[in-house]
Amino acid sequence: KSLQNYNTFGIHVTAREFVEVTSQDQLKEVLHQNKEKEIFVLSGGSNMLLTKNVDALVIHIAIKGIEIIETTKNHVILSANAGENWHDFVQFCIDHDFGGLENLSLIPGYVGSAPIQNIGAYGVELKDSMIRCEAIQIATKEHKIFDNKDCNFGYRDSIFKNEAKGEYIITKVTFKLTTNNHALRTDYGAIKDALKKNNITTTPTIKDIANAVIEIRKSKLPDPKEIGNSGSFFKNPIIKKEHFEKLQKEYHDIPFYKIDENYIKVPAGWLVETCGFKGKRWGDAGVHKKQALVLVNYDNATGKEIREVSEKIKTEIKNRFNINLETEVNII
Ligand code: EPU
Repeated sequence: KSLQNYNTFGIHVTAREFVEVTSQDQLKEVLHQNKEKEIFVLSGGSNMLLTKNVDALVIHIAIKGIEIIETTKNHVILSANAGENWHDFVQFCIDHDFGGLENLSLIPGYVGSAPIQNIGAYGVELKDSMIRCEAIQIATKEHKIFDNKDCNFGYRDSIFKNEAKGEYIITKVTFKLTTNNHALRTDYGAIKDALKKNNITTTPTIKDIANAVIEIRKSKLPDPKEIGNSGSFFKNPIIKKEHFEKLQKEYHDIPFYKIDENYIKVPAGWLVETCGFKGKRWGDAGVHKKQALVLVNYDNATGKEIREVSEKIKTEIKNRFNINLETEVNII
């Protein structure tokens, strides 16, 4: 079976076997029947680069459903099953005036993969409103609950990328959101600008923020339906303050965010652009014209070709800035 329609890079590779599961019981059953086989879990396919055929049983998680568990004066607790499309779920929350996820509008992928890399954008991360997630342990088929603190969330990081890597299949994620239109996050520069542009001068609503985010993303990030991509290909590197100060002497306009007294985060997009890669293209593989952090498949690029582009970039950035870029996308 071709996986081309199951990964947002649109890479054509095949799966040895493929099954789609629509309920937790079915998932357990499939795991039970295929104990001996190698399993490859596929959710929205929005954070992976497939470089070869997948010689495993691919399980596509299509467990749907959103449930409002409890509403109080200021909060709501609700859960979404892993196979819900992330943006559709965010839209559901916005339509119900539930606040907390609006800054995470239009992120590709499914709900179930959101905790794995602690998705984040425009000053908000999943960890800010997730209270727990539920998962099936592949080896034991047992149901496990991970509270927020159990997930060891960090910048684009969680237990599911480290100690627990490949061990669990997330089936459900539960959030605590606001019902009073408070605590909106508008501090990110691009959001402030977009609100101003839309003449929103009084207190913005949840929908205003979502619209601003959608506008910003549409202006910079390619729509995977049109041009294959996986969002940011690299993480923004965090470097020592002394290292940063040295770079700043040579590159006066280098953007940065202070992490603490000793560490500084620099935008990988700026590094890639400064090395002249923005908008470059090699065959069908390339670097997006409007956001240098995003690698793209214009049509028929292979995963290997995209990986080669990423390696060229990494080498250049190492040579020029002495920074080791880490990929955000999972290379398979
Ligand atoms: N920049 C450049 N050239 C570029 C791209 C960016 O110079 O081609 C500079 C910008 O001028 C700006 C800085 O880099 O000063 C930051 O750019 P931007 O606000 O676009 O954000 P980013 O650091 O490139 C991160 C996330 C995005 C997220 C945005 C907004 C990572 C790896 N990426 O990108 O996440 O949407 O911030 O919060 O942290 C994703 O993970 O797939 C993703 C898109």
